[in-house]
Amino acid sequence: MILTVTLNPCIDTTIYVRDHRLHRIHRSEQVTRVAGGKGVNAARIIQRLGEEAVALVVLAGHSGRLIADLLASDAIPHVAVWVEGESREVVTILETDTPDYQQTAYVEPGAAISPDARVRLFERFEQLLPMASLVLLTGPAPDPFSTDIYAGMIQRAREEGIPVFLDSRGGAFRDAVRAIPTLVKPNEAEAAEWRGVVTLSESEQMKVVDALRELGIPWVVLTLGEAGAIADCEGERYRLLPPRVTTVNPIASGDTMMGAMAYAWVRGESPETILRLGVAAGAANASVWKAAGCSREQVISLADKVQIHRL
Ligand SMILES: Nc1ncnc2c1ncn2[C@@H]1O[C@H](COP(=O)(O)OP(=O)(O)OP(=O)(O)O)[C@@H](O)[C@H]1O
Ligand SMILES: [Mg+2]
Repeated sequence: MILTVTLNPCIDTTIYVRDHRLHRIHRSEQVTRVAGGKGVNAARIIQRLGEEAVALVVLAGHSGRLIADLLASDAIPHVAVWVEGESREVVTILETDTPDYQQTAYVEPGAAISPDARVRLFERFEQLLPMASLVLLTGPAPDPFSTDIYAGMIQRAREEGIPVFLDSRGGAFRDAVRAIPTLVKPNEAEAAEWRGVVTLSESEQMKVVDALRELGIPWVVLTLGEAGAIADCEGERYRLLPPRVTTVNPIASGDTMMGAMAYAWVRGESPETILRLGVAAGAANASVWKAAGCSREQVISLADKVQIHRL
């Protein structure tokens, strides 16, 4: 099974409104609520593709219990570590009467991981690790004292010879890359933040990939939204161009890509197939509403249309 770890999952609530304006009350006719967080999204697509996934999640309070319920109704196996406080809710206002479905999101703070909860989290991780063929560490740390948790998990996975993929940002990304995961997948903003700059020019994109590779990370995938990705797989560098799709909701394309790459990796696929499937899954996700809600058939049918160029 593929083990995904999410320190800061959420309830993903989308409220559909028309004529959205500030300082007004909007009565909505449609609301969707799903368990969210990067590792949850990745687990959803891994299951759809046909591999077992377990989501290790840190949950808190009433909203944590709702996340656990939503995971169960989505048939995503999970193991929860309960902490004090409340899990966060991410509320997205989606404007149904704009041509590109404009979205405005409000993100609550997450529940901090206390020293005692950290011990329980690592105990759970240790119990699950022997069953994992790959570990996917996803999302930011919920508090400034938890940024080194992924680094500890990477070290343990490496000691056991289990591949470990990282998709995070901020302090958690900074600390985790030093522990040398097998694969990292920053998007442009995350890579720029790591470099301490606002945006990346094309040459700076290559330099970020170089810098992460120089740390000793075997696989670096820098994603650029609908412009695709630059990947370096142990020195072989590629530019990847996704197939054109009608974009409905690109949020979680990165999570879906990570899930698909993890799936292809544990099946022992070639680097080109791993990348091809990842890019296809990112595009497939962008073409549907629900985060990582695309089907296996959509991913497979887009895979042939991904362009891969050796650099
Ligand atoms: N609109 C789109 N059309 C086609 N492919 C897309 C689109 N958006 C994303 N992709 C594919 O998915 C990959 C990952 O997307 P992106 O760079 O947006 O990840 P991300 O910012 O990490 O997303 P998130 O964190 O919301 O999951 C891209 O490299 C690209 O190949
Ligand atoms: Mg991302």
